[in-house]
Amino acid sequence: MTQDVREDYADPAFQADPHPMYAQWRATTPVRRVRLPSGVTAWLVTRYDDARQALTDPRLSKALPVGQATDNALPPPIGAAVSRHMLAADPPDHTRLRRLVSGAFTARRIEALRPRIEEITDDLLAAMAGRDRVDLIDAFAFPLPIQVICELLGVPAADRDSFRTWSNTIVAGSANREQLPGALQAMVTYIRQLIAERRAHPGDDLLSGLIGVRDEQDRLSEDELSSMVFLLLIAGHETTVNLIGNGAWLLLDQRERWDRLRAEPALLPGAIEEFLRFEGPVETATFRVATEDLEIGGTTVQAGDPVLVALLAADRDDARFPDPGELRLDRAQNPHLAFGHGIHYCLGAPLARLEAQIAFGKLLARFPGLRLAVPAHELTWRPGVLIRGLQSLPVVPGPAAPA
Ligand code: HEM
Repeated sequence: MTQDVREDYADPAFQADPHPMYAQWRATTPVRRVRLPSGVTAWLVTRYDDARQALTDPRLSKALPVGQATDNALPPPIGAAVSRHMLAADPPDHTRLRRLVSGAFTARRIEALRPRIEEITDDLLAAMAGRDRVDLIDAFAFPLPIQVICELLGVPAADRDSFRTWSNTIVAGSANREQLPGALQAMVTYIRQLIAERRAHPGDDLLSGLIGVRDEQDRLSEDELSSMVFLLLIAGHETTVNLIGNGAWLLLDQRERWDRLRAEPALLPGAIEEFLRFEGPVETATFRVATEDLEIGGTTVQAGDPVLVALLAADRDDARFPDPGELRLDRAQNPHLAFGHGIHYCLGAPLARLEAQIAFGKLLARFPGLRLAVPAHELTWRPGVLIRGLQSLPVVPGPAAPA
């Protein structure tokens, strides 16, 4: 690597609001070396065009280990049980692993879940009615997607609080370095028990289907099976919660947005795309590693160097989006990168979009007077560089309209 390492990425002010820093980096050092809180040094890609190119460049591998990553220092059996998944694979393994589950995530299959998602949403909102104050993350944004992914996979939702803790620790990565091995160990033990139980008592859920593929057709190894469950649980836990949380915050922080969406519900699908662009749940895509020397945006990246694409920065690039720092509920063109791009484009995008449409549609209708319970500057953001989401979102629900 040729540039100096900059330390700004670990600055607490950056965690609170990374956008001014990203704007500066896009303008001055669009592909820059950063040292992450874990101690890993990586290239951070911040411009839209460079980001799209990097996300599709086959010379940036998802399968190679990130050499200096301290987070990877796990006992090998545990590491293998969580890391043999499609997001850590290149073709042809990636193609095989993704194909095994893609049928369950098509727009048509996801649309069939609508009545059940509506039911879960209604129940959660009913439980908020009559309360003086609730944390919208705990009461709504978290349980909704988790209940859905648990039912889809065939995981008992009763266990969700335990794996919320493990999962939060895992995605915070180095920000929670001491707890990380314990959380991974607990998650692996849990997933292995789950697989054993479902093997003994199969159902018609996704997990039972995957166990069948493993046992009968031998197209999946045991580590690939546990890693698939791990990936889907983590993806189901850590992402949509923050689309709902970040979107709700954006609407409540400037109340006229909330009122406008109530008055013009047809804007909702586009507004959700704008939440994804403006304050998407995935701050940086996962690590890629250069398999050979290559150029990104005129900067030479050497073979073996880790590369991170800052989706949040790319999606505010004024070379691609007019007035990118303005949240426009009716933005016409919105080719954001919040779900990634290329072969690793988010498998769960149709599910996340449907959940968000139902969640916001019903929240706006049921609690017309919902408002923040604390001043916006008191809200804090989750640590780590992967996820952009609020720690909590205290709100006053106000009177509930009839369901
Ligand atoms: C708003 C919610 C979501 C956002 C913003 C999001 C974002 C992303 C992004 C950016 C990637 C690509 C990462 C990379 O290339 O490094 C990705 C991949 C993936 N996501 Fe999502 N995701 C969301 C919800 C979900 C849900 C609900 C699921 C599943 C239940 C899911 C499953 C996956 C899987 C399996 C991959 C890996 C795909 C592959 O490697 O081919 N995601 N997601």
